[in-house]
Amino acid sequence: MGSLLPRQFSDRDPAPRPDLLTIANGEPLVWAVPLPTADVESVEVEEGTLSGAERERASAFADPAGRARYVVTRLALRRLLGGLLAIGPARIALGTAPGGKPILLSETERRIEFNYGHTDGLALIAVAEGLPIGIDVERAGRRRGDCKAIATRFFSNEERRFFEQLPDEATFLSLWTRKEAVLKALGTGLAGGLDTFSVVGEGRWLDEVECGGNFYRMRALAAPDGYEAALASRTERRR
Ligand SMILES: CC(C)(COP(=O)(O)OP(=O)(O)OC[C@H]1O[C@@H](n2cnc3c(N)ncnc32)[C@H](O)[C@@H]1OP(=O)(O)O)[C@@H](O)C(=O)NCCC(=O)NCCS
Repeated sequence: MGSLLPRQFSDRDPAPRPDLLTIANGEPLVWAVPLPTADVESVEVEEGTLSGAERERASAFADPAGRARYVVTRLALRRLLGGLLAIGPARIALGTAPGGKPILLSETERRIEFNYGHTDGLALIAVAEGLPIGIDVERAGRRRGDCKAIATRFFSNEERRFFEQLPDEATFLSLWTRKEAVLKALGTGLAGGLDTFSVVGEGRWLDEVECGGNFYRMRALAAPDGYEAALASRTERRR
């Protein structure tokens, strides 16, 4: 299974060219956005780019780091989509699908799909033209409860057996990020049921996963040290 290297993206970069998605030939593009971990001073000024709903959500965060994570990720998302659609970032119209997945509402003839995930210090934003995608990133060493108990409760039998062979955090996060990426591509998030499908089969990582009647291409991402990330993209194949 090939692993995809995210492009680095910062607010000093020029916006991506509109033809970039076409050049990528249906392949999702992934950008890594470094996030501030505490100080939010530097992102205050740009908040004019965000919509009223985004500003409202940002102001509801009690934790400044959480707010910074949200604001910086949404600003980067707007700049990326704005570059690809050749319109200003403030003019990008975003909404939310019934299961909670953020979607593009701006009028375009292109079928642009995107998804993002964020964790301490890093956001990953994936954009594709065509079919839905999902992405997840997790930081190692973060407090997240007992991995074994989570695996026992939420993973499929195959995945539980896989984890028992190598019961370390890296294996847990590789399983977790793949599963969450599939459920984010599906659009349900975790409510879709972590135990309804498996990302391993016969003791190996699967390149293609079936979930909710659709098939998803599954890839680990070459995330920076200390992070695990995965990308799922729906394929044309249906059950
Ligand atoms: C969507 C969900 C998967 C969020 O996961 P998360 O790990 O908290 O957060 P991520 O950074 O990976 O993703 C959050 C982003 O996913 C996107 N998202 C939200 N709902 C989504 C859905 N139904 N489908 C696809 N994407 C969704 C949004 O862009 C969101 O960003 P925002 O909060 O800035 O708006 C959610 O279903 C959930 O229930 N999370 C619980 C997390 C948890 O228990 N983690 C334990 C880790 S061991």
